Amino acid sequence: MAQLWGGRFTKETDKLVYNFNASISFDQKFLKEDIEGSSAHVVMLAKQGILTAEEKIEILNGLDSIRKDVEEGRLKITDEYEDVHSFVEANLIDRIGDTGKKLHTGRSRNDQVALDMKLYTRNQIDEMDGLVKQLLETILKIMEENTETYMPGFTHLQKAQPITLAHHLGAYFEMFRRDRSRLSDIRNRMNTCPLGSGALAGTTYPLDRDYTAELLKFENGPTLNSIDGVSDRDYLIEFLSAMATIMMHLSRFSEEVIIWNSNEYQFVDIDDAYSTGSSIMPQKKNPDIAELVRGKTGRVYGALISLLTTMKGLPLAYNKDMQEDKELTFDAIDTTKGCLALFTGMLATIKFNKKNMETSARNGFTNATDAADYLVKHGVPFRDAHGIVGQLVLYCIDKGISLDEMTLEEYKNISPVFENDIYEAISMKTCVEKRVTVGAPGPEAMHDVIGRYKQYLQ
Ligand code: ARG
Repeated sequence: MAQLWGGRFTKETDKLVYNFNASISFDQKFLKEDIEGSSAHVVMLAKQGILTAEEKIEILNGLDSIRKDVEEGRLKITDEYEDVHSFVEANLIDRIGDTGKKLHTGRSRNDQVALDMKLYTRNQIDEMDGLVKQLLETILKIMEENTETYMPGFTHLQKAQPITLAHHLGAYFEMFRRDRSRLSDIRNRMNTCPLGSGALAGTTYPLDRDYTAELLKFENGPTLNSIDGVSDRDYLIEFLSAMATIMMHLSRFSEEVIIWNSNEYQFVDIDDAYSTGSSIMPQKKNPDIAELVRGKTGRVYGALISLLTTMKGLPLAYNKDMQEDKELTFDAIDTTKGCLALFTGMLATIKFNKKNMETSARNGFTNATDAADYLVKHGVPFRDAHGIVGQLVLYCIDKGISLDEMTLEEYKNISPVFENDIYEAISMKTCVEKRVTVGAPGPEAMHDVIGRYKQYLQ
């Protein structure tokens, strides 16, 4: 058991206690960041004359050789070390002797772990942003190809008004675009360096915290309160919340893919590479990927609630409870990144059955509002027009036909205002094309928005 703190103890730690307390099994995930942070610390210590130039070089080389040996498989991280910090320090001392014992000068594991987790999270935010961007590119490509693919728009999962596939997917573009902007806000807000906060009260060494922050690319400088520096986990809660929102968006999209892929809808065919079969029913091709994405959303929500609950009762400053921030955040990150990548792959290969979408938009009176608007344009007050079209719909349901299939005579029997141009007024093309305001499905409005999205992605 390699520990950093045996001095004031007279007994060995109980084995169960040791295992319960240890974090090496999961915090080895940020070995690279731990070494990056230690290296910056050492460079700063030397600049301040706290270490000599020779000591600095010896320690930096030692740290680098540890990183390389782990990465290239020559050095194994084992559970004889309490955590990744102990692993690095013990190995450094093994390699370079007494100079290695100076690494931890003016530092505590409290500010060290706060730094490591921030460095790790910042990298992960960047990777996550890249994945969301790829998803947006995939959505935009489908939008560009489908500005005239008609489909029913729904409210209450009931057919409402005709829209286009481009318009429908544009809603998801907006959601994931907001997700990116949330990630960028979080990255900016968390971009302060906690190193130098010490255990909680700073240190008596003349550290140059601005310099350390600069070396580690913390654009907003050092944290300004050492107590908060070691005990702030807000950025993780914000990141978990952003991931929970990304998952919620992916889950809604998955739900639609599942519905659209159902035998009843047949709006889409999921590619064989992204579907699975049944062990008993030979005909089955199931949307398991979409279902798993929907299912895993709960896990990420759980992580958010878990960390909020862990933090809610903690007095200042550091408490060991905070070690619990890691596994759940790592899991949420891996889950969200995995879901983003898989969903993007599924969407990029999905086949849209345009004919079925259009047929579905034709049946279901999605043009009823436009029929009422036709009457309004001919002088009928909207409320009366609404009532008249209600009667038309009732008549059609009774006869098993759509509004387009009624004869002019049948129209006139219900209202004499109708003329031959009603058919054009309620055609699918008109219904969509007449919707010209910003954000509406009309092709001109849509092309304008697509242009803006393209610019945004550049
Ligand atoms: N493994 C610990 C954590 O993740 C590192 C900090 C330990 N600090 C301490 N005072 N015990 O939080």
